[in-house]
Amino acid sequence: MRFTVTVRQFADPLAVETGQTILEAALARDLPYPHGCRSGNCGACKSELIGGEVEMSPYSEFALTAGEKSGGLILACRAVPWSDCEVRFLEQEETVVHPLRHMTCRVRDLFAATHDIRVLRLEILSGGPFTFSAGQYASLEFAGLPPRDYSMANRPDEPILEFHLRLLPGGAVTPFVASRLRVGDTLKVVAPYGTAHLRETHAGPVVALAGGTGLAPIKSIIETALAGGMRQPIALYLGVRDEPDIYLEDHFRRLCATHPNLAFTPVLSEPTRPTARRTGFLADIVRQDLHDCDGWKAYLAGPPIMVETAMKALVTQGLRPRDCHADAFYTEADKAALAASGAA
Ligand code: FES
Repeated sequence: MRFTVTVRQFADPLAVETGQTILEAALARDLPYPHGCRSGNCGACKSELIGGEVEMSPYSEFALTAGEKSGGLILACRAVPWSDCEVRFLEQEETVVHPLRHMTCRVRDLFAATHDIRVLRLEILSGGPFTFSAGQYASLEFAGLPPRDYSMANRPDEPILEFHLRLLPGGAVTPFVASRLRVGDTLKVVAPYGTAHLRETHAGPVVALAGGTGLAPIKSIIETALAGGMRQPIALYLGVRDEPDIYLEDHFRRLCATHPNLAFTPVLSEPTRPTARRTGFLADIVRQDLHDCDGWKAYLAGPPIMVETAMKALVTQGLRPRDCHADAFYTEADKAALAASGAA
């Protein structure tokens, strides 16, 4: 069975198969339905249910409050229609819609940034022209392996696409990237996705929190903000486990030297040796360093637990939830755990 979902912003109605979410049906047709995490955690796909019935699978209170739900809002990534429906996605402040491109790219560079992070640089061979907003991500498909999502780390005006790949033990893609991928190889790239992008008209202070390779979209956001002349204070924190996990430190120190409004602080959560660096979790650092975040913008990217706890800490420190732009990186193991718990 299939239901018809009318999305006010789209010319043609969507056919949604049994068990499919509204967002899945839209993305299957390459329609630009706003979204981020695709797992009920970011709120980017928040929509008004104008008519019809949907069933919602579990989601976080941050993404959709009880008040919003009772006011008729749903999350398109969690909503499975039970009847024909009519919906309207909420227009986000400064929403930019770039055409989704199916590209073939060639590996220009591939090198180790740490013991388990590879930097991959790609040139676009076909499928462009490609545009995106700093902070968005792409789906990369290597040699017929399952596609994986990675964020662009370069500025949108730079022609070479940069990605930071963490090698995960037991992953399907990791062994290929670690030992078989070579300069000159080609791969499929579908992009851009995500709504946790830089808001360039914001004039207030900015805090950017990156966990591990969450530094990729944050790098794109920070470099784009600085290149665009944003002069407000920008506090960048990189959370990693231990000293060997820090990367791009020299790069950000150089940016700080030329842009006095930027501050860069690496934070170690599990140092194995005495250290002069800041230690703890990013949520603790937020509570220690930031005290009145009303009027700030926050950009967060990294493991779901880091994003969730830091986001809560920021809101406790006065940040308005609508000023929080987050991209949680779900590994395949995270997604499997969510599915097993009934939350995905
Ligand atoms: S909550 Fe639906 S895409 Fe994030």
